[in-house]
Amino acid sequence: MPIVGTKEMFARANKEGYAVGAFNVNDMEIVQGIVDAAKEEKAPLILQVSSGARKYARPGYLVHLVKAAEEDSGLPIALHLDHGDDFEICKSCVDGGFTSVMIDGSKYDFEENIKLTKQVVEYAHSKGVVVEAELGKLAGIEDAVNVSEADAKFTNPEQAAEFIKRTGVDSLAIAIGTSHGAYKFKGEAKLDFARLEQIMKLIPAGYPLVLHGASSVPQELVEKCNQYGGKMPGAKGVPEDFLRKAAGMGVAKINIDSDLRLAMTASIREVFAKTPEEFDPRKYLGPARDAIKAVVKNKLKNVLGCSGKA
Ligand code: G3H
Ligand code: 13P
Ligand code: ZN
Repeated sequence: MPIVGTKEMFARANKEGYAVGAFNVNDMEIVQGIVDAAKEEKAPLILQVSSGARKYARPGYLVHLVKAAEEDSGLPIALHLDHGDDFEICKSCVDGGFTSVMIDGSKYDFEENIKLTKQVVEYAHSKGVVVEAELGKLAGIEDAVNVSEADAKFTNPEQAAEFIKRTGVDSLAIAIGTSHGAYKFKGEAKLDFARLEQIMKLIPAGYPLVLHGASSVPQELVEKCNQYGGKMPGAKGVPEDFLRKAAGMGVAKINIDSDLRLAMTASIREVFAKTPEEFDPRKYLGPARDAIKAVVKNKLKNVLGCSGKA
């Protein structure tokens, strides 16, 4: 099977009330760790490449790794550009073999975001590639001091419906209180589920929503990092229960990067601390790959509910 788009993946996920995991990839060990987990869980996958990852790995390299992963696993795998910030990078990825691209116009005002998203949708659709856009600003709820501030940052349900209609975009990332990175909440973790419900009511039935900033920052991994010389005090993520709830409410794609970084770093730190004489990279990248596999396996099976759905 060639690498696939996300249309069918999302349609099934929404019908059956689970979410597809979208995991960020930067190198071979990360790709393999994720795919090893998905193979065992027989889960569909989205492997996503940020512009930073593409620059780091150099254009082309990650595309070939993802193609190799698809050949090795036989799983439905989509290759997605994460947070494309202009038309050019989206076009370059469409032309370079990606099956899905994100145009992130969330930093622009509503009309400008619509204009840019439409431009990408027109080009991508002409080449059979699907598009994700973003409306609203990712920010932890603790940053929103009061309701009117939350209203200013989080996705406006009426605007979400209008945005989808006017752009023809295939999926939409929404802001309901998650944020990127390992420090998501200063106090109690909270997401605006009432807003998500309202958005669902106003958009077409079965339309796929996307949740960015969905790492749960497992505390045992933070402790392991810190135990072996790391410094990540107060790291905190989205509780797994919240993600299960979002998946059941129509969120079809859940983005995870920080948890993979954490698993990889904790594992490498442990090898370095326990065997300082070791200098063969396979001796620390191999365990790091296994640590990523373990994190992803747990997500697919116990959080996203997509085991057996490939
Ligand atoms: O959305 C952010 C992702 O975690 C990608 O991060 O831009 O550092 O590759 P990055
Ligand atoms: P995390 O930082 O929570 O892993 O979010 C990743 C993400 O949203 C990638 O687009
Ligand atoms: Zn993101």
